[in-house]
Amino acid sequence: MSTSAFKPRFVKPSDTSSFLDKDPAVEKTNFTYNKYISQSIQTQRQRLPIFNNRNHILYLLEKYQTLILVGETGSGKSTQIPQYLREAEWPKQIVICEPRRVAAISLANRVADETGSLVQGDVVGYAVRFDSCACKPKIKFVTEGILLREMMSDPLLSSYSVIMIDEVHERTLYTDILLGLMKKILRKRPELRLIVASATMDATAFQKYFNNFENLKTPSSTILSVEGRQFPVEIFYVAEPVPCYVQASVEAAVNINASGTAGDVLIFLTGQEEVLKAVRILGEHANAIENSKSKNKITILPMYGSLPYNQQLKVFQKAPEGYRKIIVATNIAETSVTIPGVVFIIDSGFVKIKWYNIETHTDSLMVVPISKSSANQRAGRAGRMRSGKVYRLYTEEWAEKLPLNTPPEMVRSSLTYPILQLKAMGVNNILQFKFPSMPPMENIKSALELLYALNAIDINCQLTRPLGFHMAEFALNPLYSKMLLTSEEFSCSEEILIIISMLQVETVFNKPTTGNGIIKARIQKRLFEVKEGDLITYLNIFNAFVQNDMSQGFCHKNFLSHSSMKRVMEIRRNLEKILVNYNIPLTSCRNTENVCKCIVTGLFPNGAYLHRSGVYKTVRGDIDLFVHPESVFYNIEQPQWIVFGEVVHGIKLYMKDITVIQRDWLLELAPHFYYKTTGFE
Ligand code: CDP
Ligand code: MG
Repeated sequence: MSTSAFKPRFVKPSDTSSFLDKDPAVEKTNFTYNKYISQSIQTQRQRLPIFNNRNHILYLLEKYQTLILVGETGSGKSTQIPQYLREAEWPKQIVICEPRRVAAISLANRVADETGSLVQGDVVGYAVRFDSCACKPKIKFVTEGILLREMMSDPLLSSYSVIMIDEVHERTLYTDILLGLMKKILRKRPELRLIVASATMDATAFQKYFNNFENLKTPSSTILSVEGRQFPVEIFYVAEPVPCYVQASVEAAVNINASGTAGDVLIFLTGQEEVLKAVRILGEHANAIENSKSKNKITILPMYGSLPYNQQLKVFQKAPEGYRKIIVATNIAETSVTIPGVVFIIDSGFVKIKWYNIETHTDSLMVVPISKSSANQRAGRAGRMRSGKVYRLYTEEWAEKLPLNTPPEMVRSSLTYPILQLKAMGVNNILQFKFPSMPPMENIKSALELLYALNAIDINCQLTRPLGFHMAEFALNPLYSKMLLTSEEFSCSEEILIIISMLQVETVFNKPTTGNGIIKARIQKRLFEVKEGDLITYLNIFNAFVQNDMSQGFCHKNFLSHSSMKRVMEIRRNLEKILVNYNIPLTSCRNTENVCKCIVTGLFPNGAYLHRSGVYKTVRGDIDLFVHPESVFYNIEQPQWIVFGEVVHGIKLYMKDITVIQRDWLLELAPHFYYKTTGFE
């Protein structure tokens, strides 16, 4: 591998004299894990910055109903506060809500270690989707989705004394729904306590939001800031912008390794594809090292949302003796997690987020610059167990211009799913719901229209039974859950189950980067491609994978990612369980037309046709759309009528996951939606 093409030159803030390769602050001391393991846990706990505030926190929780806690990352918020509350003998359970599954699991494990108990016992446990135990631990780490699900059966969350919503700055759809519902619950349960925690947030805004306005004399919420990170973290910026951050991140990691300074490396990129690309290049480098006499051996680990969970958890394991761990992650590793051994952070400065396009009525994924608070969080992944260094692949000038926070997901994404959830929680009048940030009215209107068209709500905006209620229970895009729940009518639940599971991972394809590899991969993919489109192609790929004993060899030959395919398998199994709960029989029709029709029952809002000008136009909105290069139809004759799964923003709007349909199906399967629209004049 050539590593000289992009050699990022790092500078310290406002100091152009020191570069990575001659960094004067490079520590010569060898870092070993044993040093930390031998420290007594109690001493470690007492050293955390939050320990000095222990009694104050407990006092504030006696006095106020809501505590807004701002504490730097690593100060001990997530692991210590639950233990303080347990020690103070709050009567009921203490629940800590994390935006990510991997954080909930790893925190529960850490607290189990610190309390000398078993995880999933009486003291501490976790509940995440598809993985929770029947026990009732005193301290329980959960994901946001789980807490919402619990609210469906116990609207006042009556088994908890204290609820902590952690990493609130992430402001996912779930965070905002939870915050809104908590406001209602707190009114009804004066003895309940809420902690809203983060390293970076607008604390005053949250304090105001949670103040009980009926009783202004005694505010019901208060703010506490906890200072101090455990170990210093040095930050370096590139001197000039880098042309390609994936390549530059690899380069920086290689340089760190060559420097010989001990410590693991964590790289932040934006998505699975970039992660796999960097892993591949670093892998070649690792092989070269193995074959040489160099002592600087490395082991490379990817980490992204659609990686099977057991593989995600591998990053927490110690690297084999004599090896340095290089973890290449998406922003899944940005908050809450402590990865032992990480000393160096390489931050691309970008993140992939959802953005709602009111014209196409769809969410698109876009790569955008991170916010200052994300940059801070990423930096905070170092310096948790010893001093660290952060290499930012952007200039200091650029860093200063970054926005303070990324806008909350609620104001920038489709509201169909959150509204469905809120309705299932009994919030009937969405306009009166006190959102932490009110989403645009246009988006609310568009979501209600769509839910009505999907038959999830009736003309009075009430959830339909059973369809609307069942759709709310699936953590899926409502277009997909609708498809799944109507599959029984078309006798194709088996096929739809597979297609939807395949759509839950970012991609199942391994994309070679060399010219020859690209052509070979293309040829292999053609073997599965069918004229009906991308979704039926995915179905073929999955079936072939199963027929070939789910083997690695099959995946390798066909340029498929074995871990992604295994993850699809896992998702399929879990969705199947829900279908079985709803008494929806698993049937296979082996009739492609039926499957395509069933697809239309969900994706009909995303209908498009080939206009005589040669571009596609949405049936309802008259927006120009183009076929995505990864679609089956990119190089072959383009069909007249289609539905698509997703729109990707590039120079133009590109449709992905395309299925060929007949024009009449739209009228037959969604008459109310397409009545009198332009395409049918
Ligand atoms: O939530 P916050 O970022 O404030 O910190 P935390 O997750 O409670 O972690 C506090 C400290 O515990 C970290 O700085 C680590 O030193 C240690 N920790 C750890 O070693 N392993 C974990 N899995 C979690 C925490
Ligand atoms: Mg935390």
